[in-house]
Amino acid sequence: MSLTNLRPLTGEGKKIFIETYGCQMNFGDSEIVVSIMQKEGYFYTEHIEEADIILINTCSVRDNAEQRIWGRLNEMRRLRRKKPSLRVGVIGCMAERLKEELLNSDCGVDIVAGPDTYRDLPKLCREAESGGKGINTLLSTDETYADIAPVRLDKNGVSGFISIMRGCNNFCAYCVVPYTRGRERSRSHETIVSEARTLFENGYREVTLLGQNVNSYADGEVNFPKLLAKVADISPLLRVRFATSHPKDLSDELIATMAHYPNICKAVHLPAQSGSNAMLEKMNRKYTREWYLERMNAIKRAMPECAITTDLISGFCGETLEDHEATLSLMREVGYASAFMFKYSERPDTFSARHFADDVAEEEKTRRLTEVIALQNELSLENNRRDVGKTFEVLIEGRSKRSDKQLCGRTSQNKMVVFDSIEGYGAGDYIEVEITDCSSATLFGKAKN
Ligand code: SAH
Ligand code: SF4
Ligand code: F3S
Repeated sequence: MSLTNLRPLTGEGKKIFIETYGCQMNFGDSEIVVSIMQKEGYFYTEHIEEADIILINTCSVRDNAEQRIWGRLNEMRRLRRKKPSLRVGVIGCMAERLKEELLNSDCGVDIVAGPDTYRDLPKLCREAESGGKGINTLLSTDETYADIAPVRLDKNGVSGFISIMRGCNNFCAYCVVPYTRGRERSRSHETIVSEARTLFENGYREVTLLGQNVNSYADGEVNFPKLLAKVADISPLLRVRFATSHPKDLSDELIATMAHYPNICKAVHLPAQSGSNAMLEKMNRKYTREWYLERMNAIKRAMPECAITTDLISGFCGETLEDHEATLSLMREVGYASAFMFKYSERPDTFSARHFADDVAEEEKTRRLTEVIALQNELSLENNRRDVGKTFEVLIEGRSKRSDKQLCGRTSQNKMVVFDSIEGYGAGDYIEVEITDCSSATLFGKAKN
């Protein structure tokens, strides 16, 4: 059984268009959805105006993510007026959270499917096509779509994502994911390794193993470090990345495995959320600032060249100025290479919505977030400046966005490098690049050949 479909099928018949928001898990799920729909005779289209069915794969993690999708659904009304047979479906996390509320809205939603119900989508679509409404939002404890070969919708053909687990059991107080994605479950290691091997055999040179908390991956004897080693063993030419790691579960075995394999990328995304113990406790993160710094030091001891990135939330319930300062000082202490930074957004029915007041004023959240972002820009620039003068192996992803005389690719640390093209090198090739300059977001260099 081939575990990947490298391109979507095109042809004459009912066409689906799919638009994806949210995290990489959702992008991976869209590829599973296209695979399921293709098996039932639907074709994929990249052009929304050709679609008979439009599916929107949604995110609920912050209120602004949902607002954006409501805006998009409103725009769909115009397309429906032009093409009355058009059917619109909402799938993913917002479908799971809002259920019938989506069907009952006046945006004209015909299909609602939660993240564990995609095998049912063709049936739900047929119900909608015959004038009804299709809805299924049951969560499962064992669905992993392990047997479904995702249809690759990413275009670069160099770097691909592989979902290794679904759901989350951590119940961080602010987070909606455990409610929208259900309980944690791991996909069989054989199907993961086989999917990675097929990608490699078809020219891919990088895979990213995905889960909300990859460190708790478990398939019998195969824990996450063992899985990582199995994927890394496919070929020294295949780079392996992973996301996301929960700091409480980041083991010494994982660090040792990463350090042992040159092709396991030296980059760890380790969301801290806050630098204050009081906040971490309230967030139910199950680690302290000291534990986090100790894990960071363990990584740096084993792999001094490893880049550490993070996620941070500003203005969580009861966050004082002192707590906020603690986040800034944590950032300085770690020297993050980059970070995703957010304002706390209360999500209905989560622990913090039920038990804590969302009491940091909006303007104050904005002020703190602005400070966090400004500091991170400084740290990213400092971090990149330390790379100037060094030489890195870069995996070329393609032409640079700004100029077709330049190529771009990433270092093992996951930093983007832009450099002048040289004869004979293109997407999927490795090349040594000496870094000559940088901004806070990009390294610039000169290829050595
Ligand atoms: N499973 C991953 C991340 C999931 S969501 C992990 O635990 O690291 C991605 C990020 O969104 C989180 O790390 C957090 O920083 C942010 N986030 C989640 N819920 C949020 C909320 N209610 N308000 C603001 N940011 C939130
Ligand atoms: Fe959300 Fe926490 Fe699970 Fe991440 S680990 S998905 S932040 S509950
Ligand atoms: Fe969003 Fe769901 Fe991912 S809430 S971040 S799409 S798991």
